[in-house]
Amino acid sequence: MQYTAAMLSGHGSRIVDVAAAVVSNDRLSDDYNVVGLAAPEVGAQSKPGQFVMVKAESGVDPLLRRPFSVFEVLRDASGTVTGVSILSKRIGVSTRMLYDVSVGDTIACLGPLGRPFTIVDPPNEAWMVAGGVGLAPFATLAEALAARGVRTILFYGARRAAELFYLDFFRNLGVELVLTTEDGSAGEKGRVVEPLDRRLRSHPTASRVMLYACGPEGMLAAAARVAAAHGRPCQVSVERVMGCGLGGCYSCVVPMRNGHGGWHHVRSCIGGPVLPADEIVWDAGRGSHA
Ligand SMILES: Cc1cc2nc3c(=O)[nH]c(=O)nc-3n(C[C@H](O)[C@H](O)[C@H](O)COP(=O)(O)OP(=O)(O)OC[C@H]3O[C@@H](n4cnc5c(N)ncnc54)[C@H](O)[C@@H]3O)c2cc1C
Ligand code: FES
Repeated sequence: MQYTAAMLSGHGSRIVDVAAAVVSNDRLSDDYNVVGLAAPEVGAQSKPGQFVMVKAESGVDPLLRRPFSVFEVLRDASGTVTGVSILSKRIGVSTRMLYDVSVGDTIACLGPLGRPFTIVDPPNEAWMVAGGVGLAPFATLAEALAARGVRTILFYGARRAAELFYLDFFRNLGVELVLTTEDGSAGEKGRVVEPLDRRLRSHPTASRVMLYACGPEGMLAAAARVAAAHGRPCQVSVERVMGCGLGGCYSCVVPMRNGHGGWHHVRSCIGGPVLPADEIVWDAGRGSHA
């Protein structure tokens, strides 16, 4: 899909479509890799929580680009922005291609797209909740929070210890880590929302905590329930299938409350991907549509 200047205008921030050279491909495991892209215009504009639409090959399979959070903003030794990286989990045709790319290959990269996280200041604390590849938007968010001096915790769950990545990156930013794995091979055995719930239960109600969550839909819904039960605000980054990333195809809609007892569909590529958890209708199949 080719994006025209008209499609890229009117989105509030400068969106660019670049043919980005692959500068690195770090395979973290059999499924996860981090691809570095030479895309300084995208990196310079990116805010935590935004995403790019990328395509590894110029052919028709896959036809459409796929959405990926901006994982890191890359800089050279002098601090000049040189590009972005994406953290990819191999699940299908595009992520297989991304796993296999070589340095020097070219990837179509459109961005930055979408609404970023709203970043809090002290005395607010920031508690990030990541499931699996849902870690991706939190590297840049953690950097932004650290720069503001916000006390930050990362609740990070994965299937097993070998799928917990970038722990030292977060530790070096002063982020407290609370880890869970489904098989108990690192941290607490179980789901990541359980220690979040316990921690909120024992946390002083007068303190101010902003929750940020990204991961599978079930985890997001559970985080939203826990946040509501404890009266805490929560921003979730939703991962819907996205055909265009620019509001044109409606493949990415999320049911949101409309303030009149009903709900309506919001295109998560432009209204999100970061959305207020308490406005999402997590069980839309049973609600009334207005
Ligand atoms: C805003 C946003 C940010 C994202 N950030 C990242 C990221 O940083 N890293 C990352 O690895 N992935 C991320 N994703 C998910 C990523 O876009 C999908 O994994 C990717 O599109 C899969 O492409 P594919 O061609 O490999 O899989 P396909 O061959 O298209 O699909 C393989 C299987 O996965 C299912 N599937 C495809 N996309 C999704 C999805 N979004 N949710 C659930 N199931 C899906 C398909 O239905 C199919 O069954 C993000 C998604 C969104 C919307
Ligand atoms: S991805 Fe096309 S409208 Fe959202």
